[in-house]
Amino acid sequence: MMERTTDDEELSVRIVVTGGSGGLGSKVVARVRELGHVAIPASRRWGVDLTTGQGLGAALVGADAVVHCASNPVRPGRTDVEGTVQLLGAIATMPQPAHLVHVSIVGCDANPLPYYRAKVRAEEAVLASGLPATVVRATQFHTLVDTIARMATIGRTRLDLDFSAQPVDVSWFARELVDHALGTPPGGAVRARDIAGPELLTVADAAEAVRAHEGRPATRGLRVPTVGRTLRAFADRSNLPGPDARIGGVGFSDWIARQPARAAS
Ligand SMILES: NC(=O)c1ccc[n+]([C@@H]2O[C@H](COP(=O)([O-])OP(=O)(O)OC[C@H]3O[C@@H](n4cnc5c(N)ncnc54)[C@H](OP(=O)(O)O)[C@@H]3O)[C@@H](O)[C@H]2O)c1
Repeated sequence: MMERTTDDEELSVRIVVTGGSGGLGSKVVARVRELGHVAIPASRRWGVDLTTGQGLGAALVGADAVVHCASNPVRPGRTDVEGTVQLLGAIATMPQPAHLVHVSIVGCDANPLPYYRAKVRAEEAVLASGLPATVVRATQFHTLVDTIARMATIGRTRLDLDFSAQPVDVSWFARELVDHALGTPPGGAVRARDIAGPELLTVADAAEAVRAHEGRPATRGLRVPTVGRTLRAFADRSNLPGPDARIGGVGFSDWIARQPARAAS
């Protein structure tokens, strides 16, 4: 591979990617590098811990933008909320604060799931920061809907939840985030258009697509009652994109068709 020259480095944009080892963050890192810019992945694997702030200042030196993909659904208060506050504090001390592109979830404000409530609190911290920041919400990723579809299939029985999704291809979402990071930073903190994929489907549709792709035996649907506020929020379609959403990437059916079939367990 050719060595980068100093001139190349001067022209390139330096983008820190929190959660750069994760499903989304790794695609963001790859996209930044594909475009010839400098990606600095930042997560505990690289000695950056958002919950303590360890390694954060060093990672941010000279950064033009930060794409914030780090998250922990098991400890969202510590990682997503306090971690975001740590990140905002570190950006605020930069001589020229980097443009923060903050990742969130469509409909998080309409669902009492603790993880979604943490996403709302993190968004609020970003929007109140006064820093140049763009909050970008996306629908469920194909990978998550795939996991839910598999969990809903037990032998020959398919658990039919009242849950529809319009999931997004994580690679396409990563491209959108990098476009934000390379664009002109806003004067303050703003919300961008929501991001979603092109195909609306139920969990039963997704489970059927996975089953057919892997050539597994047919299943019989068993309707699952919608109990509790979290399932009701999904049944109310609060996780679906609104009419202004930016739609793109491959749909779930095309995406699953491109995945290697998994061995039957
Ligand atoms: N999955 C979905 O369907 C979906 C839908 C819409 C939006 N989103 C949002 O997209 C973002 C990325 O999700 P994902 O599914 O790609 O997550 P993921 O694969 O679970 O990756 C999470 C990343 O966060 C890092 N991390 C965790 N704790 C950390 C800490 N204390 N300090 C620094 N880094 C830490 C992890 O790396 P280390 O272990 O190395 O620290 C990892 O790289 C999240 O904000 C999520 O809410 C997800």
